[in-house]
Amino acid sequence: MDNIYQAAERDRLGFWADQARDLHWHKPFSQVLDFSDAPFAKWFADGQLNASYNCLDRHVLAGLGERTALLFEGEPGDTASFSYSELLAETKRAANALLALGVQAGDRVAIYAPLIPETIIAMLAVVRIGAVHSVVFGGFSAEALRNRIQDAGAKIVITADGGFRKGKVHELKTAVDTALADNSCPTVEKTIVIRRTNSPVTISTMDLWWHELIAAAEPEHEAIGFDSEHPLFILYTSGTTGKPKGILHSTGGYLTGASFTHRTVFDLRPEKDVYWCTADVGWVTGHSYVVYGPLANAATQVIYEGTPDTPSFGRWWEIIAKYKVSIFYTAPTAIRTFMKVGRDVVSGHDLSSLRILGSVGEPINPEAWHWYHDVIGNKNCEIVDTWWQTETGSIMISAIPGAFKTKPGAAQRALPGITVGIVDEAGNPIQPDTAGYLTIDEPWPSMLRGVWGDPERFKETYWSKFPGKYFAGDGARFDSDGDIWILGRIDDVIKVSGHRLSTAEIESALVEHHWVAEAAVVGAKDEITEQAIVAFVVLRQDEIADAPIEADMAQTLKDWVVQKIGAIARPRQIMVVAELPKTRSGKIMRRLLRDVADGRAIGDVTTLADSSVMSSIKEKMENESHD
Ligand code: WT7
Repeated sequence: MDNIYQAAERDRLGFWADQARDLHWHKPFSQVLDFSDAPFAKWFADGQLNASYNCLDRHVLAGLGERTALLFEGEPGDTASFSYSELLAETKRAANALLALGVQAGDRVAIYAPLIPETIIAMLAVVRIGAVHSVVFGGFSAEALRNRIQDAGAKIVITADGGFRKGKVHELKTAVDTALADNSCPTVEKTIVIRRTNSPVTISTMDLWWHELIAAAEPEHEAIGFDSEHPLFILYTSGTTGKPKGILHSTGGYLTGASFTHRTVFDLRPEKDVYWCTADVGWVTGHSYVVYGPLANAATQVIYEGTPDTPSFGRWWEIIAKYKVSIFYTAPTAIRTFMKVGRDVVSGHDLSSLRILGSVGEPINPEAWHWYHDVIGNKNCEIVDTWWQTETGSIMISAIPGAFKTKPGAAQRALPGITVGIVDEAGNPIQPDTAGYLTIDEPWPSMLRGVWGDPERFKETYWSKFPGKYFAGDGARFDSDGDIWILGRIDDVIKVSGHRLSTAEIESALVEHHWVAEAAVVGAKDEITEQAIVAFVVLRQDEIADAPIEADMAQTLKDWVVQKIGAIARPRQIMVVAELPKTRSGKIMRRLLRDVADGRAIGDVTTLADSSVMSSIKEKMENESHD
C-alpha cells in the first residue's frame, strides 16, 4: 500500500498541493512553489484564502457548528466552553470591532494577553480582516513589549486587565501602560482591554474595553480571501544578536503546514479526540498547535490558563482526567519537573484516555522519555518527539504514530515533503554517528518568509552558512538506521525551560546597567530546565563606589535583566570577575566559561591572551555556592 512518505517522495510539490487543497480556497491556486527569488519562496501564490474562515466558517458550514472547539480551564478553576459556531460568532463581532476602529489589511496588531478564549478570538479576528498579529508572551517585560510594538509598528494593542498565574494576578495592562508611556510607541492608536481578573487598571481615552466593543459590534461579517502570500503574523524570537527578530509567516503555506502536521503527527481523529497542547499562545507552539493547526482541523481542545503547579502538581493530570484528553503535547522541562516531584503526582488521576504524547522545545533525554511513556502513558501511548522552530512554522522532524518503531531520545525522521540533511563545516554530507549541522535542503510551505523589516538579515542568518540550504542553528547526527538525533544549538542561542533566549541579548541588557563594563553569558547545564543562565560580569570601577556588597549587587543585576527582558531571562547566577577570558584578537571564549559554569575541568586555554584569567575565575567559582 502506498503511504504518504512514498507519495511525497514521488512528487513533493504535488504532495504539498494536495495538503493545501485540504483547506478552503476562496480562489484556487494553480501554482505550487515559486522559488525564483530564492531564498524568498512563494507558495500557492495565485490562490486566495482566509485563515479565520478555514478555522471556523468552513466547519460550521460543514455541519460541525455544534462541535466543541475550546474547553477552557482558568487557573482559579472557572471554566468556559465554545462550540465552533460560538467561536465564529465572537470572532465575527471582534473582526467588526477592529474594522470600526479603522484597522485595515496589513496593519499590525500586538496582543499581550493570557491564555484565555478571548486571546484566540482576537488572533482569529485580526487575521480575518487581513491584519497581522504580533503576539507577545505575557512573561516578557514592559520594555521587551515596547521594543516589539515599535519594531512591528503596531496600530492596536490588545491586552487584559491581568491573567491568573500561580494564584496571583499577573498584571498585563500596567505593563502596556509602561510600554506606551511618553509616547514611545507613536503608531499605537488604541489599546483594547479584556476583562479577566477584575483588578484595578487605569483606563485612559486611548483605552477601550473588549466586552463593550464586542457588545456594540455588528454580528455578521463575511470573510474575504487574501493572497496566499499575504502576511499572517509576526512572532519575535531570539537570535544570536542582541535584537530579537520578527519572524514573518504568510497565510497559505503556513496554514497548510500547521494543519497537515497537526493531523498527521498526532494521528488526529477530530470527531473523537480531545487534544491538549500546554504551550502559551505567546510562543510558536501556541500559534501552530493551539490556534491554527487544531482549529483548521476542527479539533476539540483544552486550553489552560495557569501553571502546572497551581494549586498543586496534580493540576494537569486532573485536567486530563476531567476532559478525557487523548492527545497531549508538552515540553521535556515540564516532564522533568514532574519526575522530580515523583510518580505519586499522577496517582488517583485516571489518565487512561491518553493515546498520543508529544514532546517539543528541546531534546527529550531518554530518562524523561521513559517516565513520560511509563508513568504518564501507562506504557501504551505513542510518543512523538517533534523538532521544529519558530522559523519553520510547523513540525519538520518527528515520528508519525504507527509508521515505524520509535526510539527514546531520537527525533526520528523528516516528515513527508520535508528534506533535511546533516553536513560538516564545508557543507558536505556526513557519515552516520558523526555530529554535524542540521539543514533543510528544499523550501517548505510553512517556512518563514523573512525577518520583519530586514530582508538582508533573513538571507544572512539562515541561508549564508551553506549556500542554497536553510541552516537551522542546531547540531544533529544520523544513526545507522538513518534516524535523526538532535544535539542542540550550536550558536549562542540557549534554551531555558524550552524558552529560547539569546546570550547576546542578556549581555546587552547587563551592560546597559551603569555598574557593568562587560558581560558574558553562557547556558549552563541544568537538571530541570536543560540550560540555565550564568552571567560573568566585569564592573566599571568608576561606577561602583557606592555599590552594595557583591551578593546584593548580583541580586540587583538579576532583577535588572528581568526588567529589561522578562522573568524567563532571570540569570541563575551572576559572577563578578576581574576579567573575561579573551583570545588575542579580543573574542570572548564562552566555551571556557561554560566549563566553569558546569563545574568541568577547563578546556584548552592556550589561545587566551592571558591564561591566568581562567584560573582566577575558576577559583572564585569554587568558593561561591550557587545563590
Ligand atoms: C529550537 C527552536 C519548535 C517549537 C518550540 C521551540 C530546539 C525544538 C526540539 C526537539 C531537540 C528541539 C532546537 C530549535 N528544539 N524542538 N524536539 N528536540 N531540540 O521553538 O523557540 O523557535 O526554538 O528549539 O534547538 O532550534 P523555538
